[in-house]
Amino acid sequence: MKIDPHRAICALTTVLDFVGIDELQHGKRVAWIAESIAREIGWDEERQAFLFYAGMLHDCGVSRAMEHRRLTDGLTWSGAEAHCRRGESYLLECAPLRCFASVVRWHHTPWQQIQQLRVPPELALQSNLLFLADRVDALQAPHLNASQVDEAILAARDQLVDTVRARSGVLFNPDLVAAFERIGGRESFWLAMDPAYLLEYLENYPHASPLRDLGDRDVLALARLFARVVDAKSPFTHEHSLRVAKVARRLYELFELPAELAGSFEVAALLHDIGKLRVPDEILEKPGPLSRAERAVISRHSYDTFRILCRVFPDSPIPRWAASHHENLIGTGYPFHRAAAEIDLETRILVVADVLQALSQDRPYRGRMGSHAVGMQLTAMRDEGRVDPAVVRTTLLNLEELWHLATQA
Ligand SMILES: [Fe+2]
Ligand SMILES: [Fe+2]
Ligand SMILES: [Fe+2]
Repeated sequence: MKIDPHRAICALTTVLDFVGIDELQHGKRVAWIAESIAREIGWDEERQAFLFYAGMLHDCGVSRAMEHRRLTDGLTWSGAEAHCRRGESYLLECAPLRCFASVVRWHHTPWQQIQQLRVPPELALQSNLLFLADRVDALQAPHLNASQVDEAILAARDQLVDTVRARSGVLFNPDLVAAFERIGGRESFWLAMDPAYLLEYLENYPHASPLRDLGDRDVLALARLFARVVDAKSPFTHEHSLRVAKVARRLYELFELPAELAGSFEVAALLHDIGKLRVPDEILEKPGPLSRAERAVISRHSYDTFRILCRVFPDSPIPRWAASHHENLIGTGYPFHRAAAEIDLETRILVVADVLQALSQDRPYRGRMGSHAVGMQLTAMRDEGRVDPAVVRTTLLNLEELWHLATQA
């Protein structure tokens, strides 16, 4: 599993930015603002790049659009602490990104307060820089529209700079505020955040990535981090991706499929629902039946999964495996409507693992099923020709073990 770390983080930022739903660039803009301030105060390229990546990752603790909204609505919010702690704990568990954990932990702590805590001065300053960048973006958000940055922000920037200046020494470090005041006077700083320019900047990122080359274990760790972000989107999907991956991996072993691709298969299982971050919370948690329009919103998630994973894993079966988890053998699945002949065994396994885990978990419209009921349901699906008979057979033979994997933390 060779992946380019820069591409991976960019794609993952796009996914985190999905949580904003109406406003899809928050992480990327925060990255740009943080890096620009770091450059202005004379930090070297390595630290600029560190802040840029920290900006892209800073909201990895936010999975719910409602929380994202509260965070971008005003300058401070008493509930902000929760996502800082969540982000820190996700990053600590992910070896390749562990170096960002502390800066994310303190990225909403006011300058006055952080100085009274036992936070090392260097870390306090970096976190505060991230806080400032994040707040600048929250302040500019009402003046932006989704497709382009226009004159509205140039007209509003003086007032925005004043708002920040008024918090110098209280919310933000005075030197950082002074640097921000200088760059805030330049049109180029604001216009660079036009979505098209920002994407171009990301594509041709001028600094070396602070991430070393990633091996298979690192890729799995990254996939687990993002599975956690997806699963935290709703209480009804608690650990869904992590558990689907366990069930799928076990079935993969039972079928004695090639060991050298087992890691890739697990990554596909972990990330199969990554596109769900784009589905509004209200639809995901609606207790009653969904309308046609709401179903359409949900059913785009597997295609979004496909596009995201194609960017990170261009020459791998991972995107196809992951994105085909709602296909079936009678050709009525989505998003590709694949025919049975086009659906390989790995995909068939993932389809069953996803159904098995989902059935054994509470959903807004029904309660969880015990192993026996899950077995009956899978048998019915097999009889309708929707799922693979051999996969169902192996599942039924190992039902207790697999159900256990699907339900235990
Ligand atoms: Fe943020
Ligand atoms: Fe799904
Ligand atoms: Fe799923």
